[in-house]
Amino acid sequence: MDYVLRTNHLTKRYGGKTVVHNLNMTIRQGDIYGFLGQNGAGKTTTIRMIMGLIRPTSGEVEWFGEGVRGGRARAMERIGAIIEYPGFYLNLNAVDNLDIHRRLMGMGNKEYIEEVLSLVGLLEARNEKVKNYSLGMKQRLGIARALLHHPELLVLDEPTNGLDPAGIKEIRQLFLDLARQRGITFLISSHLLSEVEQLATRIGIIHQGNLLEEIDYEDFQRKTRHYLEIKVDDDKKAAYVLEQKLGVSDYRIADPGILHLYDLLDQPAKVNLTLTNHEVAVREIRLSGDSLEDYFLKVTGGAPLV
Ligand SMILES: Nc1ncnc2c1ncn2[C@@H]1O[C@H](COP(=O)(O)OP(=O)(O)OP(=O)(O)O)[C@@H](O)[C@H]1O
Ligand SMILES: [Mg+2]
Repeated sequence: MDYVLRTNHLTKRYGGKTVVHNLNMTIRQGDIYGFLGQNGAGKTTTIRMIMGLIRPTSGEVEWFGEGVRGGRARAMERIGAIIEYPGFYLNLNAVDNLDIHRRLMGMGNKEYIEEVLSLVGLLEARNEKVKNYSLGMKQRLGIARALLHHPELLVLDEPTNGLDPAGIKEIRQLFLDLARQRGITFLISSHLLSEVEQLATRIGIIHQGNLLEEIDYEDFQRKTRHYLEIKVDDDKKAAYVLEQKLGVSDYRIADPGILHLYDLLDQPAKVNLTLTNHEVAVREIRLSGDSLEDYFLKVTGGAPLV
């Protein structure tokens, strides 16, 4: 398989606490990998280990088919990253900021600065001091900087944090363009379902330090199970009837008075009749499908995202 990144039982402990546990992540070329998890799930810790900013307690990272020991420096040349909020010289403009970075990194081609600025939509604002930039513009400049050395992979930790909805939409479009037009692979962490749902081609769900699920978005959609949504007056009683009278256990109480039944999809009339016969009032019964939110809840055992 043509993978860009693979982690092998990556683990980080702080004191006695395991914050990332045996994490096996696979990112293939061309993926937009949405690394989804609640606050404190272990996203930043994982990304910092991946980028070599902190040392794993155990486990390994493989880049482009090579173990880190063999080729971290070489691998890093092919990766661009924004881990924390990107810092800039606020009294300098975008071009000068990027030029300083270019020289620090020993990169040759000055002409490319204008090209990356154009790529991220900052060409017109390029001579403006960065202190006058909005948060979204600074984020774009961070992305421009990460792109300067023509990376094949961009690693971005919560790149839309603090942006307003319009800013989030712009950045999302930028990622999609970069992926489609430049073939760049992305690892993007987020605690926002909507963001991952609208962007990712592959999703990794991390919860309490464990990568619970890794799935291609297409498979997620295919696998996204359909269910009967049943609105009742008494969900506990309804659950009892489903289990005891209809012999099904594949359901969950999605909200008070609302059950999602993943079984008997083609027999809503029978479900309705059985519930009614056992004195459960059914207000509504209809076929529905899982959202990423439902899926997340199921995978994590009911932990909501903020
Ligand atoms: N240097 C450290 N020392 C001790 N504990 C740490 C350290 N860094 C992180 N942790 C703990 O590890 C856990 C995971 O933190 P991490 O920052 O990786 O989560 P996250 O998924 O990035 O969360 P967020 O969405 O808030 O950014 C948290 O419980 C955090 O308190
Ligand atoms: Mg974080």
